Amino acid sequence: MSDWWRHAVVYQVYPRSFVDSDGDGVGDIAGIRSRLPYLRDLGVDAIWITPWYPSPMADGGYDVADYRDVDPLFGTLADADTLIGDAHALGLRVLLDLVPNHTSSAHPWFVEALASPPGSRARARYWFRDGGGPDGSVAPTDHRSVFGGPCWTRVVGADGRPGQWYLHLFAPEQPDLCWDDPDVLAEFDDVLRFWFARGVDGFRIDVADMLVKDRAAIDTPELVGPDAPYPFSDQPGVFEIHRRWRRIADAQDPPRVLVGEIHGARPERDARYLHPDGLHGAFDFAFLRSAWRAADLRQVVSDALDAFGAVGAAPTWVLSNHDETRHVTRYGGDDLALGTRRARAAALLMLALPGVAYLYQGEELGLPEVTDLPDAALRDPVWERSGHTRRGRDGCRVPLPWTGQVAPYGFGPAESEPWLPQPPGWGGFAADRQAPDPASMLSLYRTALALRRTDPGFAGESFAWRDMGPGVLSFERDAGLWVIVNLSAAAVALPIGDVLLASAPLDDGRLPVDAAAWIRPG
Ligand code: GLC
Repeated sequence: MSDWWRHAVVYQVYPRSFVDSDGDGVGDIAGIRSRLPYLRDLGVDAIWITPWYPSPMADGGYDVADYRDVDPLFGTLADADTLIGDAHALGLRVLLDLVPNHTSSAHPWFVEALASPPGSRARARYWFRDGGGPDGSVAPTDHRSVFGGPCWTRVVGADGRPGQWYLHLFAPEQPDLCWDDPDVLAEFDDVLRFWFARGVDGFRIDVADMLVKDRAAIDTPELVGPDAPYPFSDQPGVFEIHRRWRRIADAQDPPRVLVGEIHGARPERDARYLHPDGLHGAFDFAFLRSAWRAADLRQVVSDALDAFGAVGAAPTWVLSNHDETRHVTRYGGDDLALGTRRARAAALLMLALPGVAYLYQGEELGLPEVTDLPDAALRDPVWERSGHTRRGRDGCRVPLPWTGQVAPYGFGPAESEPWLPQPPGWGGFAADRQAPDPASMLSLYRTALALRRTDPGFAGESFAWRDMGPGVLSFERDAGLWVIVNLSAAAVALPIGDVLLASAPLDDGRLPVDAAAWIRPG
């Protein structure tokens, strides 16, 4: 089907935390391969694999040293080929993660730039600038990096003296590429073709909105002024780059798909990125950020449907990913039972909306955020860069529990030590324990995904709100599906029809608080 990406369910694999086949504590490609049947049985259409390229791992692999290979920690290029083939044989598509905003500081281009003088070709591929002040010790601008601290770092010249500064919107080990440079454009064209030729079905594009920088804001910050908009995102040139990639994606047989990570939580802004000649999709982070309140959720869903619909794009829903607090914890805080109940309802809400849904590994197991990792275990650069004020994103990256009641819970061989410690009791979430239990989160996801795939009610992209009173979200899909999510303070009566699925047992035929149901209208 040529437009599979308009209604797919995509499962995000964070390889280092998925399955560790060799016992080094870090998940790997062989591990992913071993669980492909699990993913097929779960009922997803595609997997998105976060970066597996050679990397010093300063930011979990989002610091890429070689875009055309696989880090030995995860396996080999041959393993990647085998995985892509195996996934396809099971009917699963494969998306990779393209990281075009920055390279690793260990990338040969950056190593060459450091060894080359100011004004050289090698430095033109990045953003090197002289500092201000009499001795060049003032950073070119005072923008902050996303991870905390300044977004400029000063280098030391061959003579051992401090030299120019370079821009890094994330960690210093992630120098930003200069997308005005023809080498950069040509390199990424080739990287796309390299992976497309290996059968990859598309890319999730890391910080897709930030590639192009406002040169004036960097070179003459005093003219741009402190109140000017953030000069590193939404620059007009970025759309040109996406167009260029779309042409490459469309020229493949079959055409490939591009989904952008675009932060800002405003779908009308994301929609600017979605054109028949731009990106196919962009995550709707407003949905993820919404409070668990009917009016708020209704607003973000309406906004997204309007904005994406107006440009003919499919909305792209997501509740969790490797950068965000897991939604069980977002919705319930320390109250695991409450968070779980809401997460079950949220899953039925998301999976009934028209468009694409992204699942993050472990959400189908109902994993909460691990909020008490010991300081010494933290690996996210955010922890150091923020001067130990932000703990960072490790709590959603804890290795998955698959089997048994003893760490590492089937994540790796017995007695191997996962790269982040799993909490005691993690075995309660293990997949093998949940699989036979019809009331488990895993069973809910399996049933929901099977219905979404096979029930005629999910056909098409129609959507209409139905009023069922305050605190109740309710909508209908034309093909014959009625969805009710009860965020009010009391159980609600359901419309007449067959209950296809409910996230909690009904209470005398009524839908309890913090529960959702899918109904085939009678
Ligand atoms: C994206 C990734 C995140 C990474 C950052 C820098 O936001 O999702 O994990 O740290 O980009 O590459």
